[in-house]
Amino acid sequence: MTPDYALLARQLEALLDTRDWLTNSAQTCAFLMQEIPDLNWAGFYLQRSPGMLGLGPFQGKPACHPIPFDQGVCGAAARTRQTQRVDDVHAVTDHIACDAASNAELVVPITVNGRLWGVLDLDSPVKGRFSAADQAGIERLVAVFAGRTDLT
Ligand code: SME
Repeated sequence: MTPDYALLARQLEALLDTRDWLTNSAQTCAFLMQEIPDLNWAGFYLQRSPGMLGLGPFQGKPACHPIPFDQGVCGAAARTRQTQRVDDVHAVTDHIACDAASNAELVVPITVNGRLWGVLDLDSPVKGRFSAADQAGIERLVAVFAGRTDLT
């Protein structure tokens, strides 16, 4: 069943009571891990140097770091600035396998004033876990995060 993303958006708005990026990104990935069923990893990668993603706050197993823009699903999201929704990561040739348990992946780019700030990455052990409705819902939650946070 698709989560009630309108309700989750209101809950996330209430949770993010500072504008600090570190606090809000930590809270957001913890919230997603609690509220979205069938995730094994939820976290942020930040563009801390040009063309390179660095691991930020996350929930789950230790993960790959750094990730250049020309590699993996996260790199594709950063490069194209388009959400990447992958039903089966093992069918993606340059997928970066941080955890063999991951089968599906959703990566949402986060831009601020025309600059790529980072991406939100969700992984699931369930193939085809993320529907178009999940993509729209998670994009809505990312918009709540970005709107309530000072991202520089
Ligand atoms: N699978 C990602 C790497 C990040 S981990 O999933 C946490 C990718 O291909 O970009």
